[in-house]
Amino acid sequence: IVSFFRPKLLAGRRMLITAGPTFEPIDPVRGITNRSSGKMGFALARAASQAGADVRLIAGPVALATPWGVEREDVETARQMHDAVMQAVADYDVFVSVAAVADWRVAQPSDHKIKKTATQAVPSLSFIENPDILATVARLPNPPFCVGFAAESDNLETNGEQKRIKKNVPLLIGNLGPATFGRDDNEVVLFDASGVTHLPRSSKDALASVLIEQIARRLPDASL
Ligand code: CTP
Ligand code: CA
Repeated sequence: IVSFFRPKLLAGRRMLITAGPTFEPIDPVRGITNRSSGKMGFALARAASQAGADVRLIAGPVALATPWGVEREDVETARQMHDAVMQAVADYDVFVSVAAVADWRVAQPSDHKIKKTATQAVPSLSFIENPDILATVARLPNPPFCVGFAAESDNLETNGEQKRIKKNVPLLIGNLGPATFGRDDNEVVLFDASGVTHLPRSSKDALASVLIEQIARRLPDASL
């Protein structure tokens, strides 16, 4: 009953979220991608919308339904995701970068399917670095409140804080892969200027509400 009279946690806030992997073509039928189901990002979008935020979700290729009330834009490559974010970001006061963006793309994707040859020669690929979307947004003259995510395979505590500093973001949420990929639950660690906070393992949906609360209380002019 009390919550009925209390303004919602993210009322009046506009949140831009990226989620899922990106897909970088090798040829029209092949590509490279990252491991990400998109579940965590979609759960956050749902929780943010329920908390009263105006949410735009920019999603790589995932097999998930759009959360109710969320505006969704689908992209494939890191560059498309970068362009979609840069186009929208000025209208948002929070940016949550959950997407597992491919760090590299194939330098010269083929217009035609690469065929196996009689000589059995294997193709060799060369790569170009993709734009770093989060770092680019965090460097804007008047950036939104930026939240990064990091999936590490080990040394989460050291890598997490280093990454937060490198990306220049006030809050970074870390987890360990491959333990989390595709699962419905997750265990995360928060890194901010005041230190490291471990959250207990829980379902991605429950965790999303906790993370939205954690983000909300760190926003400038937060009422919490
Ligand atoms: N990120 C991004 N654009 C990229 C790469 C990463 O926006 N091209 C964002 C991710 O969405 C995430 C954060 O940056 O919020 C950290 O991503 P991660 O891959 O852990 O960091 P990297 O700097 O790419 O470092 P690593 O070498 O560990 O992959
Ligand atoms: Ca990366």
